[in-house]
Amino acid sequence: MEAGTEQVPGLTTTKAPFIENARSRGDLFIAQPYDQYSEENHQSWRNLYARMGERWEKYANHRFLEGLDSLGLNGERVPRLSEVNQFLAPLTGFKAKPVSGYVPAYLFFDCLGRREFPTTITIRDVATPDYLPEPDIFHDIGGHVPMHTDPAFAETLVRFGKVASGAVERLVDLEDSDELRERVASNMRAMARFFWFTIEFGLMRDQDSGTEDDLRVYGSGLLSSHGEIQHSVESEAVQRYPFQLEWVVNQGFRIDRYQPLLFIVESFEHLFDEVNRLEEWMEEGRLDHVAPGEPTISAEEIEISLAAAREDD
Ligand SMILES: [Fe+2]
Repeated sequence: MEAGTEQVPGLTTTKAPFIENARSRGDLFIAQPYDQYSEENHQSWRNLYARMGERWEKYANHRFLEGLDSLGLNGERVPRLSEVNQFLAPLTGFKAKPVSGYVPAYLFFDCLGRREFPTTITIRDVATPDYLPEPDIFHDIGGHVPMHTDPAFAETLVRFGKVASGAVERLVDLEDSDELRERVASNMRAMARFFWFTIEFGLMRDQDSGTEDDLRVYGSGLLSSHGEIQHSVESEAVQRYPFQLEWVVNQGFRIDRYQPLLFIVESFEHLFDEVNRLEEWMEEGRLDHVAPGEPTISAEEIEISLAAAREDD
């Protein structure tokens, strides 16, 4: 080990004192203390980036590949968010905004509506590149942010963010407290499911894909997973169906395994249209009683959402 290189505490997922301290102070939005990345952290980024290259070429949709170029991302060092934003903001107005960990759903959606993307700054341990339940900077910057360079996708994300936070704002004046909380939970479940089956795990039809079923990946959970990006397109163990809103908002999911069920959209325009339908359904109250199940919306999450929505109202 070179002298001096491991003297910093590191920003390894679940093992970063900087993050622990921020969280214990209740600081959700933070700075990226770049000097605290250890050599091991940079090595982890290097390993992850290097092995994704050929899979991105083969399975990622073209707008993602163009996004990698226009952000000037490279595989050598953990990216600085300020540098990423210098390239990103002029293209679509989006900015990666560093956070100390989990962002409550309402606040997350509200950020999207303002073109801010809550971004995890820790990176997974170099010894465990394949799976971790928490997001990390490779997932957020390597999987999500290249998509935000595309104007059509960025508009879709903003629109979705406004619909999702609007769903809570629509309900805050309900007088029956139990009914209010039940409906808020239902809407949040529907929004989380929509986000999951599109932004995180979406597949898109692409005639120039070169893959057997003309599919390319646009979901960031897939784009940041070396194993699952291939599995999602090629495995016979995956059920792939045309996107159906009535199904998606009622479909639970597990975050701790490869997805057995994925939905295909025809194009980015199709995805945008589905967000518009989601808004109509929300306004008509059709998301007030979606099927119970995953994801669980905690009582705390509901209270945070209601408080924040009342403030925004
Ligand atoms: Fe994500």
